[in-house]
Amino acid sequence: MQSEEVRNKFIKFFEKRGHKEIPSASLVPEADSTTLFTGSGMQPLIPYLFGKEHPAGRRLVNFQRCFRAEDIEETGDNRHTTFFEMLGNWSLGDYFKEEQLTWFFEFLTDVVGLAANRLYVTVFIGDQKNNIPRDDESADIWQGLFERKGIDHKVVPIGRASIGHQTGMDGGRIFYYDASKNWWSRKGKPEEMPSGELGGPDSEVFFDFGTPHNPKFGKYCHPNCDCGRFLEIGNSVFMEYQKNEAGRFEKLSQRNVDFGGGLERITAASIDNPDVFQTDIFKEIIEKIDQVNPKLDISVKRVFADHLRGASFLIADGVRPSNKDAGYILRRLIRRVIAYEIRHDVHPDLLAEIPRVIVEKFKKVYSNLDLDQIIEVLKIEKSKFKAALSRGLNELAGYKEINVREAFHLYETYGLPFELIIEMAPKGITADIKKEDFDKEFEKHQEASRAGKERKFGGHGMLLDTGELKATDATELQKVTRLHTATHLMQAALRKVLGESISQRGSDITVERTRFDFTFDRKLTDAEVAQVEDLVNEAIAKDLPFQYEEMPLDEAKKSGALYFFKGKYPPKVKVYYSGDSLKSAFSKELCGGPHVTHTGEVGKFKIGKQEAVAEGVRRLRATIDG
Ligand code: SER
Repeated sequence: MQSEEVRNKFIKFFEKRGHKEIPSASLVPEADSTTLFTGSGMQPLIPYLFGKEHPAGRRLVNFQRCFRAEDIEETGDNRHTTFFEMLGNWSLGDYFKEEQLTWFFEFLTDVVGLAANRLYVTVFIGDQKNNIPRDDESADIWQGLFERKGIDHKVVPIGRASIGHQTGMDGGRIFYYDASKNWWSRKGKPEEMPSGELGGPDSEVFFDFGTPHNPKFGKYCHPNCDCGRFLEIGNSVFMEYQKNEAGRFEKLSQRNVDFGGGLERITAASIDNPDVFQTDIFKEIIEKIDQVNPKLDISVKRVFADHLRGASFLIADGVRPSNKDAGYILRRLIRRVIAYEIRHDVHPDLLAEIPRVIVEKFKKVYSNLDLDQIIEVLKIEKSKFKAALSRGLNELAGYKEINVREAFHLYETYGLPFELIIEMAPKGITADIKKEDFDKEFEKHQEASRAGKERKFGGHGMLLDTGELKATDATELQKVTRLHTATHLMQAALRKVLGESISQRGSDITVERTRFDFTFDRKLTDAEVAQVEDLVNEAIAKDLPFQYEEMPLDEAKKSGALYFFKGKYPPKVKVYYSGDSLKSAFSKELCGGPHVTHTGEVGKFKIGKQEAVAEGVRRLRATIDG
């Protein structure tokens, strides 16, 4: 079957059974700030799963555009995509397991025409700790369904089945698994769910492509094995629990069904080809890439096809490349494609040609796709990225080893996304970097940058009217970060030259300069200015570590660290200092960051204009080179 037929038939099938079709929501969730993207059809339906009345009734069906950023790194194999269409049907406190499993089985076998003996199913083994029973009801229903088709339907006995990893197929058709496989909530397993979240046991259907097991994925094959023999093509979630404040699971006021199945995967099963990139969905896209550059590795072609499709749909839903949140994910998609393009010397029009094919293929169904807009956004991003990329790749080629800080530096300075650093780095030099560590580093910096944007830069939110950071992207953030460190060094130097009585009255940092106001009642002489500059430049030349210690506020004040006397500080604060120890530090200040890691990164420091801003308050401007 072609995807269009699968999509239409799914909707018709459920319409015939009393379901109303609801539209596909935006990829950018409208009323849900907990997630960046719509990643499943149920997300826009949360209030209705809790019991609110849906205007279209209690039986709903749709196809929903979805995006899962967590699959960026998986993309390149034959079945993972970041963007996909999810076929979904819902019972909002109406029908339950019997109807759901029967209908989905009928849809797969009688409508799509999949052979029932190629289907394998899984059910929830239960969770004693959380008092959630085993789902024998679903196992019984499945037995009946296979029985009716005359297909063997052994339930693999408990105690062995849940550990399919150890027993393999065991001649089974129906398999029990634990919450890591057969429990669904937006936040994962029962223990991982925050209070208030809803979830439930689920039952998945797998299609058996019959490909040989790859022992790299474990000794035995079983439905949830990742070797590629089995492809999960649909998931019926029996959404009937909510985690309460005490961490216990309670029944919701109604029993819901939340079904989702990937259109790409069901289509792949229907043509009996485990490669979703060979379905009609991707066929023309891949053909176009082949035309342009037939020598590309298959996994690179898949990345091109997936990322450009994902990017096109994100752009159509209003996302623009940036350094945070959804914009950052879009930027990663686009930059990965551009980097491949440059590295493999791909025809330069790919960024225009592929979206053309994508829009042509999907615009009948998704009328928001606007080719000119997509091409324009891609073009702008490419021009922003190109120059920095070649500099970044040059630097990368010179590394002997890369740790997470250096990886982040490459990202921050040149915009090299994590995947690229790993892919483009000379072999074997990035062995120790984990994506989680990079993400942690990224989050640390995002928080710092957000703090800056909220005019909190300079320390714990207390400098509301005295300190400000002005940066709009990573390169600018890096520059103001260096200037921020320079400001600490300058304040320390001013006190050494002019005496301990001076104290900060304000600061403002832009990409061009730092501006610092402090109590002092006359103009600084040229000699004093030169002395301050020399002290700062000496500290820079020593390349002192610039680091912080977190400590209770009292202790921080006692340490001699500078702080803003009007400031409201939290009970625990960070003291940033330059040097090997807090005691011997050249500078120390209570501050929220961000800062460089070594003073050498600051560059050459120079004081510029000075003026009086109020009675007894002087203002200095200073710059750094580069
Ligand atoms: N919410 C479930 C999933 O995403 C079923 O729709 O798999």
